[in-house]
Amino acid sequence: MKNKSLREILLPLPKISVSILNSDLANLYKTVKKLEFVGTKVIHLDVMDGNFVPNLTFGPPVIKSLRKYTKCFFDVHLMVNNPKESFLWYINSGADLIVFHYEVVEKKDIEKLVYEIKNRNVYCGISIKPNTPVNKLLPYLKFVDLVLVMTVEPGFGGQKILSECLSKVKELVKIRQHKKLDFIISCDGGINESNIKDIINLGCELPVVGNAIFCDTDFVKKTKKFNILTKKLEFCKKNKISYG
Ligand code: DX5
Ligand code: ZN
Repeated sequence: MKNKSLREILLPLPKISVSILNSDLANLYKTVKKLEFVGTKVIHLDVMDGNFVPNLTFGPPVIKSLRKYTKCFFDVHLMVNNPKESFLWYINSGADLIVFHYEVVEKKDIEKLVYEIKNRNVYCGISIKPNTPVNKLLPYLKFVDLVLVMTVEPGFGGQKILSECLSKVKELVKIRQHKKLDFIISCDGGINESNIKDIINLGCELPVVGNAIFCDTDFVKKTKKFNILTKKLEFCKKNKISYG
């Protein structure tokens, strides 16, 4: 088990987790180095198996290759049907956080899977698709380091946000407060410059941003903009002043 909580490791929050899914994957090394150079701390790696979702991306060999070149925190989002069988591959590739989907693991196995991941010194998160309600997670919230609320159907970058999913963030904030827990709330899909402020103000601490960065011809400039924005929001939250 890690001796520091995920929150301590990631502070200050909020900050963005940059999804490289919609980047030019032929230039992954350069992209990651540039992101790191402009202050990116967290990289979101979308693993898709063509089974849980109708798309295929990359897996352990690519993550392992990247690991050699960056100190960024690797937030590995497993959109795969077999996290129980495959989580070790990602741990051995250098994942810092493994997020698996609630929908693909039998209830009786969830606690054990979380324990097995955390026991290997890697943080563990659980994710829910848009149609899965928050209450399904209630038995597991005390074990996980992070909850990832999908704000699009998983599978592709660049989709429009399903705003109805955002009420889950509020629900999670309430539950966390009521039960005195400490998990981080992350959201994934369709987050851009126009909606990120509201999403953070609802309680999302680690918004995943992909297409809104990489659709820009100058993704470095765009990343800097997001970093400035999240810093301002962090300052406002800390000092309890409203922003914008
Ligand atoms: C979707 C992925 C997301 C996505 C990010 O299945 O999990 O991480 O790439 O969303 P966008 O591209 O909308 O920012
Ligand atoms: Zn993702």
